[in-house]
Amino acid sequence: MTTSHVAVSDDVQIRYATEEDLPGIVAVYGQSYPSPDFQADWVSQRFRTNERFGFADSVILAEMAGQIVGMLIVMPLEAFTPGGGLVPMHGVSTLAVSPVHRGLGLGSRLMRWSLQKAHDNGVPIISGFPYEYRYYSRFGYAAVGRAEHYSFTPTILPLFPERRHVRLLNEDDIAEVQVCHETYHRQRGTLSPRRSETAWQTWWPWYRFQAIGYPAEGPLEGLLLYEYKSITDQRLQHEAVIRDFVALTPAAERGLYGYLAGMADQVRTISMAVPVGDPLPMLWQEQRLADSKSVRRGDYTTGETLVNLFLRITHVPAAMTGRTYNGQDGQLTLACSDPDLAANEQALGLTFTAGVATIGAPVSAAPVLVCDIHTLAQIWSGSLAPSVAARWGTLELSDEALLPWLDAVFATASPPFIPDYDTF
Ligand SMILES: CC(C)(COP(=O)(O)OP(=O)(O)OC[C@H]1O[C@@H](n2cnc3c(N)ncnc32)[C@H](O)[C@@H]1OP(=O)(O)O)[C@@H](O)C(=O)NCCC(=O)NCCS
Repeated sequence: MTTSHVAVSDDVQIRYATEEDLPGIVAVYGQSYPSPDFQADWVSQRFRTNERFGFADSVILAEMAGQIVGMLIVMPLEAFTPGGGLVPMHGVSTLAVSPVHRGLGLGSRLMRWSLQKAHDNGVPIISGFPYEYRYYSRFGYAAVGRAEHYSFTPTILPLFPERRHVRLLNEDDIAEVQVCHETYHRQRGTLSPRRSETAWQTWWPWYRFQAIGYPAEGPLEGLLLYEYKSITDQRLQHEAVIRDFVALTPAAERGLYGYLAGMADQVRTISMAVPVGDPLPMLWQEQRLADSKSVRRGDYTTGETLVNLFLRITHVPAAMTGRTYNGQDGQLTLACSDPDLAANEQALGLTFTAGVATIGAPVSAAPVLVCDIHTLAQIWSGSLAPSVAARWGTLELSDEALLPWLDAVFATASPPFIPDYDTF
């Protein structure tokens, strides 16, 4: 059988979905994301009323000869960038093409359509959590976010005395909880999606979070959101799954860890994801974890590191001006290759002054940085130092002596860290 990308291109329409398309959407979804629990009514309901995206302006379809043959969800979101600013961000998920129409270029058309749409709207970045990374990387997505996942017994944490000053929070405290959470994410100085208003309003009751604040009275300095999960391998026991651990002050951090230490009678394990490089394991008073396999020949296995965020820069000028920088003032010419978005290939003159980038025409005396859109996402997000990219041959700087300067300019506190509940 021979197929041609050209042959189908004329009778394929890429467009936003309407409610009438739901049966077709459910059919494509069911064929692409198989599940023994699949129920068309439930999936249809989840598409129509859900907390994460507005149906009409988020579901993109590929239609061929009047039939729905592919789909992609693109959610309008926002993200905090290094420096604490807020930029628009699109979040992609649920790319699917019906099995009989695969290999015809339809998935590529949906992906490119979403890139162009973001660019045309001045949206600087698209992020996603694809499980088919190789496919997404064809369109300029790069791995950027990492998290360290730990599972440990409460008894290995110190019983910090500040635990006595925590308070229980409930749904009435949601506005204050949001302020604390946003302040934390602004201050962290790394890329992180902003949790949407609807997410706040719907997740808490839905997932029955337990919520603890610090201190006992006054404005929140710390926030702990967790849920209980049952562990049924032996006798019934429980695990506390931490969704948010937010501490604006050292006292709040000690209060919340002290509170977790005090949960030893309620839960066998605490599972928690933290940013890469977080010193949490240095706090533990025992390195042998709940899992007996955690000691290997004198080494201690403390957890696992997972890559959990993929990023695509869709509008280079908007991205470059959408974050702040470090290091000394200076100038740069950025020449980026981006086969899917030609507008991004325009050479930019970048001037860094007191941490802010402005854009003008390239200056002949400025060093020239050449890289592809994939590498730019890694550098821009603080996930990869330019000098490492140069070592790997994915970045060229006309004057290599300036690499330490460039490293300092793009450095961030840590790579992007996305708590599990902010994946979409
Ligand atoms: C992934 C998917 C959307 C691709 O759709 P498609 O219309 O067949 O894709 P295209 O025709 O545009 O591209 C086909 C090309 O992508 C490659 N490709 C397909 N699936 C791939 C994957 N999972 N990883 C890497 N490459 C893949 C094909 O080998 C082909 O390569 P070629 O152009 O060199 O011949 C489709 O296979 C699908 O719906 N899969 C099930 C759901 C899924 O996995 N979604 C992605 C979740 S993140």
